[in-house]
Amino acid sequence: EKGPYPHYMLKEIDEQPFVIRKLVTKYQNGDGEITIDENIREALQETDRIYIVACGTSYHAGLVGKQLFERIAHIPVEVHIASEFLYNRPLLSSHPMFIFISQSGETADSRGVLVDIKKSGYRALALTNVPGSTLSRESDFTLITHAGPEIAVASTKAYTAQIAVLAILASDCARNRGIQRNFDLFKELGLAANAMEIMINRKEQIEEIVWKYLSVSRNCFFIGRSVDYYVCLEGALKLKEISYIQAEGFAGGELKHGTIALIEEGTPVIALLTQPHVSGNIRSNVQEVMARGANVCMISIEGIEDKNDQLVVPHIHEYLTPLVSVIPLQLIAYYAALYRGCDVDKPRNLAKSVTVE
Ligand code: F6R
Repeated sequence: EKGPYPHYMLKEIDEQPFVIRKLVTKYQNGDGEITIDENIREALQETDRIYIVACGTSYHAGLVGKQLFERIAHIPVEVHIASEFLYNRPLLSSHPMFIFISQSGETADSRGVLVDIKKSGYRALALTNVPGSTLSRESDFTLITHAGPEIAVASTKAYTAQIAVLAILASDCARNRGIQRNFDLFKELGLAANAMEIMINRKEQIEEIVWKYLSVSRNCFFIGRSVDYYVCLEGALKLKEISYIQAEGFAGGELKHGTIALIEEGTPVIALLTQPHVSGNIRSNVQEVMARGANVCMISIEGIEDKNDQLVVPHIHEYLTPLVSVIPLQLIAYYAALYRGCDVDKPRNLAKSVTVE
């Protein structure tokens, strides 16, 4: 139940640190090691390429997951939008392994791909929040995201839970492949949960940002590079679906290839910066859009912040920054929807689980 919360979405945003801590207890054994079904381990040991298939927010979590697998476990990963997979069928590697990411486990587009690849005898892992769901029953293996029921149509805690489980899985693969782990996964997840809590307690500041940047605007751009770009895609989707503000996420480097033409006096641009190696580039993108009149809200991370940044998230390991940087974006969408009098939990034209193709 909602308890003291005005909306499920706000409750579910607030639950995120708790979900991450719960995942740490669910996926850690008494010796502090990862515990995962041996059959999943074996299947991942044998694969030469992972194919992640998902829709919407789960697809965005998949993009973050690709980077985690490639950086931590050195396994190549492709991420596919489920509804496109069957038309743009990728050429598969010799030992493919499929991961279907779905909060509900009922999404028809994802199931369509699962049925198809099962016909060819490929193995599939369902990463879902709902045990016993269709995708879980029809896949060879299941990993549960343990986020608890997600009632608001806009997905929040399922996204961060998916990313955390993907990080756990990638770390497990790295260990099984004898790759030296250069970060202490469970410790870093704990630190990420603390940082998420800090952001959740800064709602007033985020409300002010919405007031300042989004109170009159019909559109908004999110820019970022590297993993921040993927989080920008998610921030833009959240804003679109519940506040009906037209929002797009762009890779910072793509601006000059066309998008910058849309920037005019007062256009809100939310820039995300959590990765030190792209810091100079994204800051020069910010200069470029500001020179054309954009109203830029800079969200950065401790360590690479500038005194003029509007919001600075606490420092956490660079692999896990999406867990924390997405929270202000979720809250921006929430308050923008609230100001516009939108139905936050049940946006128009949308259903919680999309069971038609
Ligand atoms: C966005 C949202 C949708 C879902 C998508 C996939 O907030 O909720 O984009 O992420 O419909 O749903 P699942 O994860 O249930 O397969």
